[in-house]
Amino acid sequence: MSLSVSASAATVLDKSSPTVVDVDLGNRSYPIYIGSALLDQPLLLQRHVHGKRVLVVTNETVGPLYLDKVVYSLTKDNPNISVDHVILPDGEKFKEMDTLMKVFDKAIESRLDRKCTFVALGGGVIGDMCGYAAASYLRGVNFIQIPTTVMSQVDSSVGGKTGINHRLGKNLIGAFYQPQCVLIDTDTLNTLPDRELASGLAEVIKYGLIRDAEFFEWQEKNMSALMCRDAAALAYAIKRSCENKAEVVSLDEKESGLRATLNLGHTFGHAIENGLGYGEWLHGEAVAAGIAMAVDMSYRLGWIDGSLVYRVDKILKQANLPTVPPDVMTVEMFKSVMAVDKKVADGLLRLILLKGPLGNCVFTGDYDRKALEETLYAFCGC
Ligand SMILES: NC(=O)c1ccc[n+]([C@@H]2O[C@H](COP(=O)([O-])OP(=O)(O)OC[C@H]3O[C@@H](n4cnc5c(N)ncnc54)[C@H](O)[C@@H]3O)[C@@H](O)[C@H]2O)c1
Ligand SMILES: [Zn+2]
Repeated sequence: MSLSVSASAATVLDKSSPTVVDVDLGNRSYPIYIGSALLDQPLLLQRHVHGKRVLVVTNETVGPLYLDKVVYSLTKDNPNISVDHVILPDGEKFKEMDTLMKVFDKAIESRLDRKCTFVALGGGVIGDMCGYAAASYLRGVNFIQIPTTVMSQVDSSVGGKTGINHRLGKNLIGAFYQPQCVLIDTDTLNTLPDRELASGLAEVIKYGLIRDAEFFEWQEKNMSALMCRDAAALAYAIKRSCENKAEVVSLDEKESGLRATLNLGHTFGHAIENGLGYGEWLHGEAVAAGIAMAVDMSYRLGWIDGSLVYRVDKILKQANLPTVPPDVMTVEMFKSVMAVDKKVADGLLRLILLKGPLGNCVFTGDYDRKALEETLYAFCGC
């Protein structure tokens, strides 16, 4: 694999042939298309639409930007197709039951039958909600993802985790439900706010650290290009991230072990999101500080070299991401949220920690508690 953007990026940007990453899941396998101007290639989308009825689910920010394009792509030279849409309010706080019900209201009012297709157009919130709606409407209808944030293009649209939040916790209600395809038109990132772009890069950095040293080294050389929205660099980062996620998901779809490693930094990150109140920090920002904490702890355990701690701190800062939790976080706040983490088994908190050379990690409850304590005190005021 070359460390330069150019060769791979040229393929990704070739309008006639999008880069394709396959998610290999037997009879539920599907392609991820990645490239520029893919929404101008109607056949790409149309070949994955089943039936004659489509419901596009989007929100009030993304709808005005891309809904017309998606409807054009679905209907061009395809007179038999009819497209309905539902526009949801924007924000994580709307990833809940009442908003989900608006999708069902629209589908039922429009008399959509089992052969319809739901299309998610938006970031991870829309993708997770639309996917869950598709999984449960008439016990399951076809589903296509058109992710429009870095976060959703490199992570949430791939792998079939769908769902909504409950007031007592994030993503507590949901289903594994794989789409027919994921269509990533990298041009949609042109309208994405800088802070959202950076937030998605936290997950990109994560893939390098847990399983792809070469990709991490590429990021070290290309982080400024990514931050400047260099199209070739972004397309390459998305492709490589999707390849990593697709491979992990193919090996462990329902998260019996390996898939959990995708949560590097997330246990600490969730404590921050929870402590601050959801929406204060973006998910990727909380994960970035969480990665810095997991790396610190791995070093205290003697599992990684000090130079890696330095490299992680540097790349997170280059991506304009936080490397410490916000001031309000206390050791007790971390401990109380971590005690009810989904990864607690038999009273033992399992964490994803780096171990060995760059690109290696473990998911384990077998670590010296003192190291966790020290990390929490090192990162919190009290
Ligand atoms: N299913 C999974 O495996 C998985 C993985 C990671 C995250 N998630 C979920 O994803 C969600 C976070 O996703 P997100 O970071 O994409 O947040 P988001 O969906 O809230 O999108 C972020 C913001 O960007 C706006 N936006 C989206 N695309 C845009 C564009 N092209 N131009 C301008 N604005 C645009 C959105 O309207 C929103 O305001 C969380 O709910 C999280 O739980 C799920
Ligand atoms: Zn995440």
